Amino acid sequence: MNLSDSEIIIGIMKENGYENVNSLKEANIILFNTCSVREHAEERVLQRIRNIKKSKQNDMVFVLIGCMAERLKEKLFMEKSIDLILGPDNYRKLPEYIKQLEYEKRVCDTNFNNEETYSDLIPYRQSNVTAWIPIMRGCDNLCSYCIVPFTRGKERSRNFKSIIEEAKKLISENYKELYLLGQNVNSYYYDGKIFSDVLESVAKLNSDVRIRFMTSHPKDLSDDLINTISKLSNVCKYIHLPFQSGSNRILEVMNRNYTREHYLELIKKIKKAIPDVSLSTDIIVGFPSETEADFLDTLNLLNEVKFDSAFMFKYSPREGTSAYLLNDDVPENIKSERLSKVIDIQQNISNVSNKNLIGTNQEVLIESYSKKSDAEFQGRLGNNKVVVFPAHRNKIGETTKIKIIKSNSATLIGELV
Ligand code: 5AD
Ligand code: SF4
Repeated sequence: MNLSDSEIIIGIMKENGYENVNSLKEANIILFNTCSVREHAEERVLQRIRNIKKSKQNDMVFVLIGCMAERLKEKLFMEKSIDLILGPDNYRKLPEYIKQLEYEKRVCDTNFNNEETYSDLIPYRQSNVTAWIPIMRGCDNLCSYCIVPFTRGKERSRNFKSIIEEAKKLISENYKELYLLGQNVNSYYYDGKIFSDVLESVAKLNSDVRIRFMTSHPKDLSDDLINTISKLSNVCKYIHLPFQSGSNRILEVMNRNYTREHYLELIKKIKKAIPDVSLSTDIIVGFPSETEADFLDTLNLLNEVKFDSAFMFKYSPREGTSAYLLNDDVPENIKSERLSKVIDIQQNISNVSNKNLIGTNQEVLIESYSKKSDAEFQGRLGNNKVVVFPAHRNKIGETTKIKIIKSNSATLIGELV
């Protein structure tokens, strides 16, 4: 969401006559788009700001935007280098506030605006292959550990027509993959339209364009949506479905509103309806009061489902959430041990799932040159796995067939067929 927000913000700035620059030295304005989901993310931003501060020139403006702005507000002016603080609903006024700084020392706007979806703005996109389309903002779920409902505000869905118009425009501009984004896409609702309507309408615009979406909540993923995914050939058979914990007791304290049994049943249904589906998840270890037995429930679930990949985190207490009032009683060393264990297990599972593809031919959408070399392309299979292969022919944005010849837990290596 932050990357997509950054594209919206660059769009706003360009519209107002500003340009991107490639180095710090050339910059007049520096924008820090921040995340508050874990303490570590906030610490990294503050460290970055302090490092850059040393090269701040007199007329340089430092702007802190995003969830950290919303969470800490004026308190962030403790960092003396910050001039402007803007919450996630206030990006439209960015150019106006920058002008205001000519006669005001510091400006902070973190007001919520439950109507704001930025639907009429044109993002400045970084890729010309994959385009993010935010379809909703905010979250009403109140998982007990999560700061997002307090920083991104109430859930609001974007006008259905504006989503379809944007998708049409992107297809006419030759984008090959559209990524529908929301904190919880399953609760999309606008004028009687639900998420499966959005997915189906966007997918039917052009069957050669891949459609992805993220994120789904296990309590809201409906049979109707599973059906829609399975019947549309260009909807990627990939679902990110965070389970957070395998223990029913912990799930309850997390206020996730589903049980382990419901989650496993859902996975069974998905695998039956979409046999080639690829699944990923999010896991938190060391949540308050998590016992060894609760943690074992998480490991068992991980082993049972066999996700293609997982994002795994140590619990980080966030002030203002209801879990913050609980005793953060799992010692740091146990949290670290549990995290290493889940990472190890998942790595083995990802390794096996990737090895199973060796020898098969796969369709790849070429996204860019590989990070290591311009002699290699990097692309993605429909199931979201990343593959690297020689850049002898083809172009970025094309779909091509490659044979998988090697793999590790994160990447597949391919050769041209
Ligand atoms: N501590 C650790 N992980 C968290 N997440 C959200 N809040 C916290 C927290 N307080 C994780 C969840 C979520 C992902 C985006 O971040 O797993 O799905
Ligand atoms: Fe946070 Fe839960 Fe909302 Fe996800 S669904 S953003 S974890 S409150």
